[in-house]
Amino acid sequence: MKYDIALRLDNLTVRHGPGCPCCVESESAVVHMERNRCSRCGSIWAVRNISLRVREGEILGVVGESGSGKTTLMKALYLDSDPVSGTYYLGCYQGGEKNIFTASLQQRKHIRNRLLGMVYQNPHLGLRMHFSAGANVAEKLIAAGNRNVASMMARTAGLLEHIEVPVSRVKEPPRNFSGGMQQRVQIAKAVANNPPVLLLDEVSTGLDLSVQARVLDLVKNIQREFGVTMIVVSHDLAVVRMLSDRTVVMLDGRIIEEGITDQIMEDPQHIYTQTLVNSLL
Ligand SMILES: Nc1ncnc2c1ncn2[C@@H]1O[C@H](COP(=O)(O)OP(=O)(O)O)[C@@H](O)[C@H]1O
Ligand SMILES: [Mg+2]
Ligand SMILES: [Zn+2]
Repeated sequence: MKYDIALRLDNLTVRHGPGCPCCVESESAVVHMERNRCSRCGSIWAVRNISLRVREGEILGVVGESGSGKTTLMKALYLDSDPVSGTYYLGCYQGGEKNIFTASLQQRKHIRNRLLGMVYQNPHLGLRMHFSAGANVAEKLIAAGNRNVASMMARTAGLLEHIEVPVSRVKEPPRNFSGGMQQRVQIAKAVANNPPVLLLDEVSTGLDLSVQARVLDLVKNIQREFGVTMIVVSHDLAVVRMLSDRTVVMLDGRIIEEGITDQIMEDPQHIYTQTLVNSLL
């Protein structure tokens, strides 16, 4: 793999449901498919044959309407789910030579704890709502092998301060927090072990505009300060435009358009992308 490629994904396909001869053998034939769903067996082909390249320090945006497969893609990249097919390499792991989808359980643990950070669209997947905010972050540090309680407490306090969670709330559980604050705790957790790659799924969706702007600023600052490689997913093109250098557009589990974000904004090719861009004007 070329040294400056941080992440390389090829031909990823993820299916929800068992599949049947119709959709498994002629998935691309479209004959029995209603959008991403097989009309014979009802299986959803949530991500179909997706390939991505992300350079080191780059922010790649992924945009698409609800149901287009963005979260399914991110969960596969964070190794939460097993794909039907695909290969996945990280530049920071074994010289970019090991297909991570075939990694052992122990290797996956290492990758998830040290090399990847994830902010889930659904905070319930990313946080233990009944643990304190501090414990949520500390748990991640422990998972990476930290044992020194004093240094962990200092690091946790520093992280939460950095993302503007008031010190007075570190002992409170995230279930007491607003959505914006929950996302902040997720971000602190995601960056706790300084992973080279961050995955952010709808990190600012559902927040008030002012809170959304602050969360996006925070994300930009993290990228500037640490040169982290990021994939940023949103159904909102405005969010992706604000953050990403390059953008891919998804529809029904497929990538229908990709390119430099500014170029896509100026000259969208696919009719669906044109609708997205026009809706911003
Ligand atoms: N656990 C699941 N079981 C069955 N279908 C699912 C599951 N998760 C997602 N889907 C379906 O997969 C498709 C993609 O969903 P998702 O990845 O959540 O899209 P997005 O994040 O772009 O809204 C949708 O059709 C959705 O209904
Ligand atoms: Mg989603
Ligand atoms: Zn089927």
